[in-house]
Amino acid sequence: MFLAMRLGVLGAGHVGLPTGAALAHSGHDVWVSDIDTDRIDSLRQGVLPFQEQGLDALIQDGMDSGRLSFVPGLRDHVPGTDVVFICVGTPPRSSGEANLLALESSAAALAEQATGDLLVVEKSTVPLGSAERLRSVMKRHNPSVTFRVASNPEFLKEGNAVDDSLNPSRILVGADSERAHEIMRDVYRPLIERGVPYIEADLRTAELAKHASNAFLSLKISYMNAVARLCEKSGADVVKIAEVMGADARIAPQFLNAGLGYGGFCFPKDVAAFDRLSSRWGYDFPMLREITRINDEVIDVVVQKAEGALWNLEGKRIALLGMSFKPGTDDIRYAPALILAERLLNEGAAIVGYDPEAGDNVRAEHPRIEVEDDVYDAIAGAHCLVLCTEWPEFEYLDLDRAKATMKYPIVIDGRNQLDPERMRKYGFTYLPMGRPPVQP
Ligand code: UGA
Repeated sequence: MFLAMRLGVLGAGHVGLPTGAALAHSGHDVWVSDIDTDRIDSLRQGVLPFQEQGLDALIQDGMDSGRLSFVPGLRDHVPGTDVVFICVGTPPRSSGEANLLALESSAAALAEQATGDLLVVEKSTVPLGSAERLRSVMKRHNPSVTFRVASNPEFLKEGNAVDDSLNPSRILVGADSERAHEIMRDVYRPLIERGVPYIEADLRTAELAKHASNAFLSLKISYMNAVARLCEKSGADVVKIAEVMGADARIAPQFLNAGLGYGGFCFPKDVAAFDRLSSRWGYDFPMLREITRINDEVIDVVVQKAEGALWNLEGKRIALLGMSFKPGTDDIRYAPALILAERLLNEGAAIVGYDPEAGDNVRAEHPRIEVEDDVYDAIAGAHCLVLCTEWPEFEYLDLDRAKATMKYPIVIDGRNQLDPERMRKYGFTYLPMGRPPVQP
């Protein structure tokens, strides 16, 4: 039987907002808070801090139903709340380790406001042992209350976060008390009854499982990028190889696309954090460093392709198509396109970029990059074009128009998105990743 509960979410970001909106959608009464009170004010007016498909509608529905509210501080909200989800950021320190300051201060703030039993759930990707740390911080700040903790890592993909929250591939809950498990089953009752796989574990297993999943997905990508390097040396085609491999259900076709590598706020920092936590717990895991090395190497490969095609990069104008870390988002954190842009700028090239969604973010944070709002304005006058993020619209570029305005008809396809035969037909020098190049 479904029992509506009062739930809190700390952190109104890429994880907290879809989580809060989805929990309200399933019938709970949810408040969301953030230390950034301007963000909370904007959300109350219906203005989201970032683009996420379908999230504005889900949030609006929640607010209209009265089940979702945004609150500037915790005062008066924690008493009477059954469960609080901590969805704050865990940015990387220079060592690669996760910075857990926001997690600790969230725990302290919650403990100070709590007057009765409270279950606190970590949703952020955190190192092994963090839930136990959370509990001891809360106990220290408020010894009179019983704090239970759970780990419920999210598996949301940016750009697909709403669907991933409403229809998750699995729900993972780690806890070390049966009472905490019981409460979490009540939270997710509607999804459990719909047959969503629900996996229960102890705290440490849940914390480790999230790291193991993200690192494995990164491993798939880096593996294919290493195969792509071998293809480039031998003349084989990595796209065909991925097709053959993906047809085996044990391998699965997803995340086998070689190209410019992975970016975003999860994989790069999570692989580094997993490596650090592994050595902290006494296990050297060099495979994780190799994943990162191969991902970094991809940028060198594209710079070499540009140098091979253009000879000197000084004074050359290079157009980058797509600058977000993947299609479907305006997020540019650790975007491979921008890492490449900085490298090319340092080599003396002029960089002009276009992105359907991320242009303003690039303007704000990368002043050396000239950003155009129209793809053909970015292409015009370029000596070379590099496709960095596979937005669907790039498949339908007017190649005659592009060729007529480019200085040289050279395309580096960092995502293997374009059809080599079509590029040959239109007379381009076409340089894909791990596939035979096309020379006119
Ligand atoms: C990733 C995971 O996919 C989620 O399951 C996880 O919950 C999330 O991190 C997180 O930890 O919060 P996300 O960072 O949104 O989600 O992005 P992905 O769709 O996984 O893509 C990551 C990067 O890999 C992108 O730069 C993408 O272009 C690249 N990629 C992906 C490839 O280079 N090749 C591929 O075959 C697939």
